Amino acid sequence: MRKVLISALAVAATLAVATPSRKVAAQVDLGVPSKTGMVVSSSDIAAETGAAILGRGGNAVDAAVATAFAMAVTSPSNGNIGGGGFMVIRQPNGAATTFDYREMAPAKSTPTMYLNAQGEIDMSLTQQGYLAPGVPGTVRGLAMAHKKFGKLPWKDVVSPAAEIAAKGFKLSKSLASGLNGETIGTEERPGRMKSFPASIAAYGKPGGGAWKEGDTIVLADLGKTLTAIANDGPDAFYKGWIADRIAEDMAANGGLITKADLANYVAKERAPVKGTFNGYEIISMPPPSSGGIALLEMLNMLESVGLPNESRQSVKAIHLIVEAQRRAYLDRARYLGDTDFVDVPVAKLISKPHAKEMMSTLQPNRASSSAELGKDILSAGKLPADEPLETTHFSVVDRDGMAVSNTFTLEGGYGSHVVIKGTGMILNNEMGDFNKKPGTTTSTGTIGTPANVIAPGKRMLSSMTPAIVSKNGKLVLVTGSPGGRTIINTVLHVVLGVTAWNLTGREAVDSPRWDHEWMPDRVTFEGEALSPAAVNQLKAMGYDVVLRGEQGSAQSIWMHPQTGTAFGIADLRSPDAKAVKGGS
Ligand code: GLY
Repeated sequence: MRKVLISALAVAATLAVATPSRKVAAQVDLGVPSKTGMVVSSSDIAAETGAAILGRGGNAVDAAVATAFAMAVTSPSNGNIGGGGFMVIRQPNGAATTFDYREMAPAKSTPTMYLNAQGEIDMSLTQQGYLAPGVPGTVRGLAMAHKKFGKLPWKDVVSPAAEIAAKGFKLSKSLASGLNGETIGTEERPGRMKSFPASIAAYGKPGGGAWKEGDTIVLADLGKTLTAIANDGPDAFYKGWIADRIAEDMAANGGLITKADLANYVAKERAPVKGTFNGYEIISMPPPSSGGIALLEMLNMLESVGLPNESRQSVKAIHLIVEAQRRAYLDRARYLGDTDFVDVPVAKLISKPHAKEMMSTLQPNRASSSAELGKDILSAGKLPADEPLETTHFSVVDRDGMAVSNTFTLEGGYGSHVVIKGTGMILNNEMGDFNKKPGTTTSTGTIGTPANVIAPGKRMLSSMTPAIVSKNGKLVLVTGSPGGRTIINTVLHVVLGVTAWNLTGREAVDSPRWDHEWMPDRVTFEGEALSPAAVNQLKAMGYDVVLRGEQGSAQSIWMHPQTGTAFGIADLRSPDAKAVKGGS
């Protein structure tokens, strides 16, 4: 656990959860201020790239596209062109939209393609290799958003990433160590890129040995790929030589993705899901993300039980939040999937009456039972849950107040670990986000409900929750996070900090987080954030309490309510995160 949380414990001994460090620090840190635009990313180089685009007169979408492409180079474990994601855009007049560039299942995929002869899930197939990827959506989605909203030419916003890849960039300590873990391996785990020669050729240290902090990595093939995308547009990826390389590599290695899959890939503009909480307006991502629906459900539930009247640091507040999390994640398991394929009762799920009904089973001083609440969908068995915690989020605001909240992913760190020969591009392992064993939903967290079963062309359910908050029509907060299923709960905590308890963005991001996902029926807390007395009290109420490492990484922008200044808040749970002012 990072030091700022630990240092807060001294004053928090009698409280359930630690106070954000800013309360005990002598000087108040609100974040990096700007009136001319802001980019916050878990990659410092990518944030600088996006901010430079703002400085050249680009708007928030131009900067977001440049940041995303730069992250495909500088943050290869999660930034990508071989994966997918979601972008939520709010214009200065409050009009909002989203772009869905989630991966689609290849035409040859089947509902049981990850089951072995015994009918059990073969995790090795979804964790790495050629059967793990969905058809990538990032390039199509970024191009679609740029076409509708961008001001600068496409080439101008893609080329900076191509240049970084071709010239090389200096490795941070954490990236050097991450790459070594994948290419060489650690005592605990062999390097997962070792099975893929093109991956080692692209990301291993030339001549062998371990990368060190400050070494320069050159990604020449990725530079060529990005240059082609910059010069020829997204069709270079979906119909041109890049598509040829992907299809050839897939065919040669037992993968499913064909040229037709790539040509048929479509990104979609979708209406955001919208809700209100305590006088604030919240917009987020509709299906195929579960994030927006679950976030709004939790906020509605917490409003219905008067959360803003409770002390933020009380066991009562923890109890209410956990019970809202439990119920929203049950609905997620029960109903959610790709609405292009299945009916999802979205309007009902995000309605205030539904939230009230869900909280009617709340017990004042007792943990509810996930098994009891969800007995209609539970089956026997104890399959291991296998949701990785990777993904990345960045936030952008421009000088006019246009806001972009973008979360994108390769699923696990470095995705499938497959680099397509000649492209330098890492492919995702997003197919693992489908329900892989139809009909089996277990107390260990495996979900097998019909809505998210694999079908050709379908998008796998996501937890990514890019979110934007406003009040009385004025922008308040842009946020989102990585973290697998924990994402939605991380975003909930940041949004609650600002909207329920009037924290600054900095305080809300720094505050401790906790996570309950219906199943497994346990609540995990960030490190030492919880006081021992509170642990005991929660256990006495029937909670299974687990202390964990850091949860998520919410790269956020908070607008000062009085001055309208944008404050960029780098969440330092990611060591390379940076907030960079754009323009002057
Ligand atoms: N791959 C993380 C998510 O989509 O939820």
